[in-house]
Amino acid sequence: MDHRTAIITGAADGIGWAMAQVFARAGHAVLLADLDGEKAAARAAELGPRHLSAAADVTSEDDVTALAALAAESFGGCDVLVNNAGIADRHLPTLEQDMAHFSRVLDVHLKGTFLVSRAIGAGMLKVGTGAIVNIGSIAGVAGMPRRNAYGAAKAGIVAMTRSMACEWAGQGVRVNAIIPGYVETDLVATLIADGKLDATRLRRRIPMGTLARPEDIAEAALFLASPQARYITGTTLNVDGGWSAFGDSGDASPG
Ligand SMILES: NC(=O)c1ccc[n+]([C@@H]2O[C@H](COP(=O)([O-])OP(=O)(O)OC[C@H]3O[C@@H](n4cnc5c(N)ncnc54)[C@H](O)[C@@H]3O)[C@@H](O)[C@H]2O)c1
Repeated sequence: MDHRTAIITGAADGIGWAMAQVFARAGHAVLLADLDGEKAAARAAELGPRHLSAAADVTSEDDVTALAALAAESFGGCDVLVNNAGIADRHLPTLEQDMAHFSRVLDVHLKGTFLVSRAIGAGMLKVGTGAIVNIGSIAGVAGMPRRNAYGAAKAGIVAMTRSMACEWAGQGVRVNAIIPGYVETDLVATLIADGKLDATRLRRRIPMGTLARPEDIAEAALFLASPQARYITGTTLNVDGGWSAFGDSGDASPG
């Protein structure tokens, strides 16, 4: 796979950084795009000389246009795009939620996934090959109190995944989504530290009894982006330790 190139958004940290490492190890040249350009640059340097970085806000059309131009100039195009950039919601009661944060959460996840897919997808369609992997969440498929914007954004990402997959299926471009459960990242660690998530109760709700490691999500993305997944498009892959499968009363595991 050593000719392959991948753009990963939100690659400076958490799941995105794990993806950058996993894709690089599998032979991809990786372009790490992140709001935090300095951190993305340091991460790219850590991976080695053939990897690149870009400071880019996925909600900015100008930044995304520049990102696509950089990929075209430096990589001659892009085989894989992972739309991973994301922010948490505030877990406030609905009546206390403000429009500014609601809109920002929708913008980063939904508008960001759309803008980057449109810009990078254009190049993929031109050469007639490419794979896009979007990142959803279990919050987009099951009702989680106080998570209106995040849940709606993630549900929207799944709808957009199916829509683009069907539009581009005959043109060589596959589009799929991963639905991660709870993943051990700084984002989740902060929610636990702030008392917004209870780690013990979380683990009891997961049949496998543990949170995912960022690498678990990264390996699933690598598969969906790989030629081995050539006949898979428009699908969602749950990587959640059985969370979505559990429907019994009480705990799913001792935790
Ligand atoms: N951690 C989990 O349990 C979990 C579960 C389900 C889904 N997810 C999703 O996985 C993705 C990654 O989450 P994470 O836990 O690694 O988060 P994280 O906060 O550790 O990393 C997110 C990265 O995205 C970047 N980012 C944020 N806004 C951006 C923007 N507008 N433009 C470009 N980059 C931006 C941040 O700078 C950061 O580097 C997100 O889409 C998140 O919703 C996470």
